[in-house]
Amino acid sequence: MVELAYLTAGVLFIVGLKGLTSPKTATRGIRIAAVGMLVAMIVVTFDLLGLDAKFAWGVVIAGVVVGGAIGAVLAIRVQMTDMPQLVAAFNGFGGGASALVAAATVVGANAVLLTETAVVTSLSLAIGTVTLTGSFVAFGKLQGIISGRQVFIPGGAVTNGVIAAGIVAASAVGVFADSSMAYWVALGLAAVLGVTTVLVVGGADMPVVISLLNSFSGIAAAMAGFIIGNQALIVGGALVGAAGMILTIEMATAMNRSIPSILFAQFGGGASAEDIGTKPVNRATADDAAIALAYAERVIIVPGYGLAVAQAQHAVKDLANALEERGIEVTYAIHPVAGRMPGHMNVLLAEADISYDLLLDLEQANPKFAQTDVVLVIGANDVVNPSAKTDPTSPIYGMPILNVDEAKTTIVVKRSLSPGFAGIDNPLFYEDTTLMFFGDAKQALEDALAAINQL
Ligand code: TAP
Repeated sequence: MVELAYLTAGVLFIVGLKGLTSPKTATRGIRIAAVGMLVAMIVVTFDLLGLDAKFAWGVVIAGVVVGGAIGAVLAIRVQMTDMPQLVAAFNGFGGGASALVAAATVVGANAVLLTETAVVTSLSLAIGTVTLTGSFVAFGKLQGIISGRQVFIPGGAVTNGVIAAGIVAASAVGVFADSSMAYWVALGLAAVLGVTTVLVVGGADMPVVISLLNSFSGIAAAMAGFIIGNQALIVGGALVGAAGMILTIEMATAMNRSIPSILFAQFGGGASAEDIGTKPVNRATADDAAIALAYAERVIIVPGYGLAVAQAQHAVKDLANALEERGIEVTYAIHPVAGRMPGHMNVLLAEADISYDLLLDLEQANPKFAQTDVVLVIGANDVVNPSAKTDPTSPIYGMPILNVDEAKTTIVVKRSLSPGFAGIDNPLFYEDTTLMFFGDAKQALEDALAAINQL
């Protein structure tokens, strides 16, 4: 019965994950995976504890109530724009939980373990701890508690390489000499490595790191599953590890970065703060934007992080409706790393009932910009920055961007000339065909709609 229940949980995880491949089936997928997790939790609890371990039952129920309440409150209250921080925190807790399973095993057996168990224990301890501290540095960066820019550490990649070698050496001593102390040294070094590795990563590369840490949390969980001999944890952990790694590679490819270059390159650059916003731009009013939009035949809307901050998704939909009523073709171009999490813009636009059929990905959108009358860029910056194509010194050089500068007119809605997440200037703003429409995205779109209705 237990094996069958674990198999059922594993199948539910896989079916749920498959559901996440399309926005249309994502909600159902999440629910299916959650049922799988519930099945796994119930079965593992009965399987490991039996019915008569009374003290342990109290601990388990307390853990479910306290952990469940914290998770539920955080998940219900989190703003969409803060979702990556939540994911980072959950990754950290996942890694920490796996490291605790490994630490408990070392303590319980006084480090005398079968070699196979000792190897997976040391892996779970090291990977789980790197995930724990790395994720909380990522959380701090995204939350603005720690600088989002790259922090250079003395020795850079060499220092990290030495720490990683130290973890391998200490783990080997732990495994082969049954030394508890060696395991704790490995744990301490892993805690430092998590911090030093994520500190050097620049803001624009953060999504890739969060995804990588997500994958690590899965690998650590799978190792913990081997330690306690639990199939559901092995399957669930392996799925998270593999899916997270695939997403990491896809995102790194979308940003034209290799994973080692993100973690170890420590490249800097970008314009200094004084350079930004000093050159003249074409300013547009709501009336200027309204005229450009209302007399266009084809409009592409490019949403970015600022749209999420302003919660302007419904204002976008209202504006698009008004344009469509005038017979104008309106579509949306979604960059894979627009916003602050994978799929951020898709979720936001779905909230406003914007049809998935109107969303173009980068490959679909780029050939269309040259035949587009007006591109309306709303709160996006890095994902439309042409220096990714033209400036080899730019930290985002090589990242594929939406080529909005090829359109006849580009209207950029943002509050100022401030840089985006990567902290660099954007030459798009100074081009002849670009109109800068300054203001909060929601207010600006409402003003533009009012002006269109007056025409
Ligand atoms: P960003 O480059 O971050 O630019 C957002 C722009 O929105 C800012 O320049 C800001 O300018 C503007 N803005 C902020 N609040 C606004 C408001 N209330 N109304 C109007 N505009 C507002 O955004 P992006 O183009 O979407 O690029 C995403 C960046 O985040 C990339 O560098 C990406 O690598 C990184 N990132 C992505 C993810 C994922 S997975 N999507 C995760 C972490 C990081 P003002 O201050 O002048 O208004």
